[in-house]
Amino acid sequence: MTRIGLAALAALALAAVPASAQPLPFPQRAVTLVVPFAAGGPVDVVARILAEPMRKSLGQAVVVENTTGAGGSLGVGRVARATPDGYTLSIGHWSTHVVNGAVYPLNYDLLKDLEPIAMVGGNPMIVVSKPALPAANLKELVAWVKTNQDKVNVGTAGAGSSTHIAGIYFQNEVGAKLAFIPYKGTGPAMQDLIGGQIDMMVDQLSNSLPQVRGGKIKGYAITAKERSPAAPEVPTVDEAGLPGLHIAIWYGLWAPKGTPKDVIARLNAAVVAALADGPTREKLAALGMELVSRERQAPEALGAHQKAEIEKWWPIIKAAGIKVN
Ligand code: MLT
Repeated sequence: MTRIGLAALAALALAAVPASAQPLPFPQRAVTLVVPFAAGGPVDVVARILAEPMRKSLGQAVVVENTTGAGGSLGVGRVARATPDGYTLSIGHWSTHVVNGAVYPLNYDLLKDLEPIAMVGGNPMIVVSKPALPAANLKELVAWVKTNQDKVNVGTAGAGSSTHIAGIYFQNEVGAKLAFIPYKGTGPAMQDLIGGQIDMMVDQLSNSLPQVRGGKIKGYAITAKERSPAAPEVPTVDEAGLPGLHIAIWYGLWAPKGTPKDVIARLNAAVVAALADGPTREKLAALGMELVSRERQAPEALGAHQKAEIEKWWPIIKAAGIKVN
């Protein structure tokens, strides 16, 4: 048979495959976004802000589920072990997708078992305290912590979480021993800070800013070189008396390794569309979240950034002896 004859036969054979045997376009059902911390906290809030514009773009619901515990590693592990079909995704940040690999004996590999989808953006942290704490600025807070050391309670989202690591850096800078109180996320920790059951936190700006603005807690300084456009009245740690305590929490979305490339591209397009949506951008900006550029929203950019952050932070965290067994 001629080459043309063979090609015609192949085309006929393809046309004979029943429509039901062709893979249907992704997604055909709801997509689950696993938040590794408690509801009401910063990751949960970002996930819920993104879920609605992502639903519009995907044409299917994006359901946020909270799987908490072990500094977020239970939630990330759930996604790392999920079927790689694009229906179970992980949203997290610097501590869940970088730090946890240095402090926990994880039963998954942050780089080998997850496929990057998109980087979202990030926010700095802010030193905050319960409203009744008698300090008017960071220097007075540091003096109070030194005077009251051994009885200062600092809220965290569990061992290895960003609030825990930032709290340890604060402790080391101040030179005072603090007691870290673990919660399933900084959503519930914030309730206890407002209620005065804990004394202070070094918390993500997005979680604390609404409460500082509402006068429910006190805010002292931002852990960045520059003031935040969302809170220009709050000084930086450099200005306020603890120079160099710089920590930025960046967010991303991941799928299980082995998720088909076209599904990753579809999910990336949904995140990119969400981050281009005006009302979504406004909601995130009001919380102090600064979004990354369009180029940095690419899966490859997230993968490269995560790898670089692992190479930077694991030696620092291991040298600091921060470990959870
Ligand atoms: C949370 O969502 O509770 C936080 O991201 C945890 C943290 O910042 O430590």
